[in-house]
Amino acid sequence: MPVIAIIGAGPGLGAAVARKFGREGFAVALIARNQAKLDALAVELEAEGVTARGYAADVREPATLESALARAADELGPISTLQYSPLPSRDYLKPVLDLTPELAREALQFSALGLIHAVRAVLPAMREAGGGSIILINGGTSVKARAGFAGTSVAFPAESAYGEMLFEALEGENIRVRQLVIPGGIPKLQLPNGIDDVALRIWEIQAAAGPFRTMLIPLEDGRE
Ligand SMILES: NC(=O)c1ccc[n+]([C@@H]2O[C@H](COP(=O)([O-])OP(=O)(O)OC[C@H]3O[C@@H](n4cnc5c(N)ncnc54)[C@H](OP(=O)(O)O)[C@@H]3O)[C@@H](O)[C@H]2O)c1
Repeated sequence: MPVIAIIGAGPGLGAAVARKFGREGFAVALIARNQAKLDALAVELEAEGVTARGYAADVREPATLESALARAADELGPISTLQYSPLPSRDYLKPVLDLTPELAREALQFSALGLIHAVRAVLPAMREAGGGSIILINGGTSVKARAGFAGTSVAFPAESAYGEMLFEALEGENIRVRQLVIPGGIPKLQLPNGIDDVALRIWEIQAAAGPFRTMLIPLEDGRE
């Protein structure tokens, strides 16, 4: 059974992607900081016929992330798909004149370094298996800086650059590296099936040949 690890598995997009991939036959490793919430989500998914388990980790603490991914692989099998989508703290959405070096460092740890640790933990198994998917989910500040959202404006581009380089480096190995950019708040996008449409889009972009970056909607139509 293929396994997806969702880093940032909350009640919104994380749960929707877990359901979509679960229905497609994936086992799901749910990763976020709160074990009790992960366990409750895993119970919900299991009731719907999806194999799911929760593994607590904080992306700002690499050892916890690496341990969660290792435990998930031991229990569920090698991770074939990695989604990196932790929800940024409101602290990373402060105006630029409030951005301290400490906050910038934390935002970079959250977005870029966490992803680099996670990728290095799962990539050997993907390469050995001869394929896999790595999916980054980001807001519009990954493409265009906004002075009101300073932390993500500094950190998302670093995450994106790493993803884009991975895309180039792994293209020949059947490891599909993809980024979905969601400009603006998901509820405000008024998608016909809400968050499920975003999960479907993620499923589609990682299943087919295509570019590194996909915009869910054009940047000028969104915010963030
Ligand atoms: N929601 C939007 O409107 C929107 C707009 C644009 C882009 N996005 C992107 O969509 C993704 C999030 O989707 P969502 O908003 O629907 O969220 P979600 O999947 O409902 O939840 C994401 C989860 O990330 C976890 N998280 C936060 N900080 C973490 C940390 N330090 N370490 C590990 N996990 C952490 C939180 O759980 P814990 O608190 O238990 O750790 C949270 O429940 C992100 O990639 C975000 O950039 C969302």
